Amino acid sequence: MRLLHIDASARFAGSRSRQLSKRFIDRLRQDIPGLQVERLDLAISTPRHVSELQSAAMYTPDAEKSPEMWDAIRESNNLCAMLLKMDAVVIGTPMYNFSVPSVLKAYIDNIVRVGVTFVPDGGTYKGQLAGNRLLFITSRGNDYGSGADMHGLDWMTPALKTTFGLLGIPDPEFVDAQPMQFAGSEARDAAIARAEAEIDVKASEWARVVEVAVLP
Ligand SMILES: Cc1cc2nc3c(=O)[nH]c(=O)nc-3n(C[C@H](O)[C@H](O)[C@H](O)COP(=O)(O)O)c2cc1C
Repeated sequence: MRLLHIDASARFAGSRSRQLSKRFIDRLRQDIPGLQVERLDLAISTPRHVSELQSAAMYTPDAEKSPEMWDAIRESNNLCAMLLKMDAVVIGTPMYNFSVPSVLKAYIDNIVRVGVTFVPDGGTYKGQLAGNRLLFITSRGNDYGSGADMHGLDWMTPALKTTFGLLGIPDPEFVDAQPMQFAGSEARDAAIARAEAEIDVKASEWARVVEVAVLP
């Protein structure tokens, strides 16, 4: 199983989303021998924002791309190639201003590519990540869970579902650690314990599915 482990928090020490995504990967490593993990830290290797030239290159057939266009689209091509060879992706991310951090948005703008990660298919599109597993581990200062007062302000979950649905994964998995920063220590500790428990269950479930898939 080839897995891509992405983190997006600007924080390193003390980042909840980083701690939780690492916990998931550590659990999986224990349970899945031979697990191959590639790492992409978006706070360190932040993809470039889409430029005018890159945007033009995205919609220009390969045979007609200028050398400058190939240069402008190289990083995006590399990120797409990396993603397309994976069986599973785990993304640890905070909520920033009701949505995803800009480094994660920059990544998404580089990997959502017509003809590459989703292709035209009889009047609609076929996502090239279909069949892959995708888990978002998010941390949020407030609580946006179903029933919470701020539920309707969570713009990250629908945006991520819609975007990765286009790539073939309409129902990604989520573990949301909430509320964090803006809650008292009791509610925060309870939220972390809940997220850790969910992560442990998910890791066991992923390992079981892999075990079944490789059995003769
Ligand atoms: C720039 C910035 C914007 C934020 N915006 C929100 C927000 O809109 N809603 C919210 O609940 N928390 C918000 N927070 C709080 C973070 O989501 C929360 O602290 C989270 O745990 C950070 O993740 P990390 O611990 O992995 O860094 C924001 C934090 C920062 C730094």
